[in-house]
Amino acid sequence: MRIPLIAGNWKMYKDVKETEEFCLKFRELYHDTDIRALLLVPFTSIETVRRLTEGTNIMVGAQNVYFEREGAYTGEISVPMLKALNVEYCIVGHSERRGYFHETDEIVNKKAKALLSEGILPVICVGESLEIREAEGQNEHVKNQIRADFSGISAEDAAKCVVAYEPIWAIGTGRTATPEQAGEMCSLIREELIEMYGEDTADQIIIQYGGSVKPENITDIMNMPEIDGALVGGASLDPVKFMDIINF
Ligand code: PGA
Repeated sequence: MRIPLIAGNWKMYKDVKETEEFCLKFRELYHDTDIRALLLVPFTSIETVRRLTEGTNIMVGAQNVYFEREGAYTGEISVPMLKALNVEYCIVGHSERRGYFHETDEIVNKKAKALLSEGILPVICVGESLEIREAEGQNEHVKNQIRADFSGISAEDAAKCVVAYEPIWAIGTGRTATPEQAGEMCSLIREELIEMYGEDTADQIIIQYGGSVKPENITDIMNMPEIDGALVGGASLDPVKFMDIINF
């Protein structure tokens, strides 16, 4: 049984004061549900979210990490540093990091392994550009990402990972994939994971859709059988909208 997971990806938004304001409002609105809710926030907001959501079952995560444990890597944050903050999840391979910061599948894979070695669960993002979609190369592209990103990860660890399918053309554009398009790609990802790990393991992996998810389209997205949750960007910055999405 996969429990739905709705995650908010704040990206590079909200300083500490804005984080406090969000959490205070969100606390008023939030009541525990069967849906698992996760906030993936800037490093500088992790402590504040953790403190102000105490007593609820809201989980807190990061959006990036470096794979080395420590060393002269100015500006980077390690897995043990996140572990010390009780971070439960961390995004790896978001298309913005792949695009702006040149993260390859090899780096994504190293980061996922480093996280898993400390018990932090990676949210591994995959998805095709508009160019690839228009050339109908999305299936091949996403399958290759899954193969490379999960390379050398054991079945036991893979079962704990989250995959977020985020077509780049749908991120922050207001142009959502249709529930059918999203569902098809999430099925394809599950099939690839079945090939790699077998059905028992693949059945446990949460597969989310991300890209312009909002209160108006979450129900149709969640109705697709292979979609277990959503990775929400813009709409997760507003406590009312994010709560409406969790309560879809
Ligand atoms: P969006 O972002 O919901 O603003 O499209 C999704 C994401 O990038 O995770």
